[in-house]
Amino acid sequence: MKHQAETKHKAIQSIPRRLGILLILALLIYACAYGANNRIDISEYTYETDQLSVSFDGFRIVHLTDLHNKVFAQNNESLLREIRKLKPDIIVMTGDFIDASNHTNIDHALMFMQEIPKIAPSYYVYGNHEHILGKTVTEAFARQVTEYGVHFMSDEALQVPSKTGQTFTLIGLDDKSLQANILQKLVDESEDDFQVLLAHEPQYLENYYAETGVNLVFSGHAHGGQFRIPFLNQGIYAPDQGVLPQYTGGEYTSGSSTMYLSRGLGNSGFPLRLFNHPEIICVTLKTVTGGR
Ligand SMILES: [Fe+2]
Repeated sequence: MKHQAETKHKAIQSIPRRLGILLILALLIYACAYGANNRIDISEYTYETDQLSVSFDGFRIVHLTDLHNKVFAQNNESLLREIRKLKPDIIVMTGDFIDASNHTNIDHALMFMQEIPKIAPSYYVYGNHEHILGKTVTEAFARQVTEYGVHFMSDEALQVPSKTGQTFTLIGLDDKSLQANILQKLVDESEDDFQVLLAHEPQYLENYYAETGVNLVFSGHAHGGQFRIPFLNQGIYAPDQGVLPQYTGGEYTSGSSTMYLSRGLGNSGFPLRLFNHPEIICVTLKTVTGGR
């Protein structure tokens, strides 16, 4: 009887300890998940070319994508701080800043877009999510961000100048036009030898973008594969590519084209990333001998 009473007493005593361990475990998991979704990685690349004027040497292109209505700290202040620190010459954005799954918030996206052109000239193309919301939303959003000073680009090309006025061509391909033969026409009409493409979906690099001869491509859409396998630079799943996708994040080349694919900033329907921090890409152009 005495032995049974002691055992029961010990079991009762161990309950707070077990609860404590569970609480610590829960806090650890929460801290990991919070870090995985909120700590921003800055990925810096240098792109060497002999096809650009030396006036573009050191020109910095900051690339943002797939914000999906996420807000980093109060009014995105932590995200905006990271972007400012990079001292961009231009900021390019490749869509899905509005989410169309379960947390659509157009005001959140607009709040961010209002601040971006105050940092540097800014360019935006739509991803697939904005189009899910329909024409009324996309037209109103495009009008509003244009009022803020963002260059909203839907299947068009414009010239981006260096400080001394030489230019390269920036092409903005709308996600709804990916299957159409619009890109080749825009490349052919370009007045510059050097073209930079903004296109939301990366899986068309080999069979579409590179075939047109564009020099640089910025893309998103894959969200890094949502969950990443540490040390292998491999994501688990990406929309339109399926399981163990080819394009999830980083630098890719095909022919004479180089693509920078960002893992993006936010999440869509599935709310968690793993080993896959939100990412900002910054590409610095380096002109080498032979440049114009
Ligand atoms: Fe996305």
